[in-house]
Amino acid sequence: MAIVAPSFLASNFLRLEEACNMVNSSEAEWFHLDVMDGVFVPNISFGLPVIEHIRKTTKKICDVHLMIVDPGKYAEAFKKAGADVLTVHIEACPNLHRNIQQIKELGMKAGVAVNPHTPVSLLKDILQDVDVVNLMSVNPGFGGQKFIPHTMHKIREVKQMILDRGLDTLIEIDGGVTMENAAEIVAAGTDVLVAGSTVFNAKDPHAVIAALKKLH
Ligand code: DX5
Ligand code: ZN
Repeated sequence: MAIVAPSFLASNFLRLEEACNMVNSSEAEWFHLDVMDGVFVPNISFGLPVIEHIRKTTKKICDVHLMIVDPGKYAEAFKKAGADVLTVHIEACPNLHRNIQQIKELGMKAGVAVNPHTPVSLLKDILQDVDVVNLMSVNPGFGGQKFIPHTMHKIREVKQMILDRGLDTLIEIDGGVTMENAAEIVAAGTDVLVAGSTVFNAKDPHAVIAALKKLH
């Protein structure tokens, strides 16, 4: 059974409170919040003040996915805004080990995200230090894209690395998760399913979340 993390990028930003209430009253355990700076990715989403308000509506886990350059500069501010899990991109961090330590010292769980083209072998010397590996299954920047099938191999590879080393790192899959492919994604070893459009574009988001929770 995977943790379900609805991505607010697909919600109606004029009705964020409704989106928060929906997730709060659902079986989802995490709020997935995508921060984009227009530099690391070709899109701009939302930032600190929005997260601060979302945080006030919930006691669920706030999973903040930073698609920004120089994320270390803002780690403390995201902690203050209420992030529980803070994920940075391996491609944006020449001093990744330092960034991960900083996030943990601030009292957050640390995540590392890898883009579709980035080999998971690059995680070898950081895996033991991170709580979450976010395998991007679309190119970051936009919701509603198609799942890149090659990600399935990456899930299995990272799962094996985690098992071989007896770690308890969570694998998070982010992008293009649908009702059609979610079962296979979970069966391959995914612990956290991010779902944006599949949840927020549904007629009955609660039912979609409940259905995703049933997969194993
Ligand atoms: C993409 C974001 C994802 C996105 C997923 O850059 O990291 O979290 O919101 O959206 P869907 O589920 O619609 O692909
Ligand atoms: Zn994301």
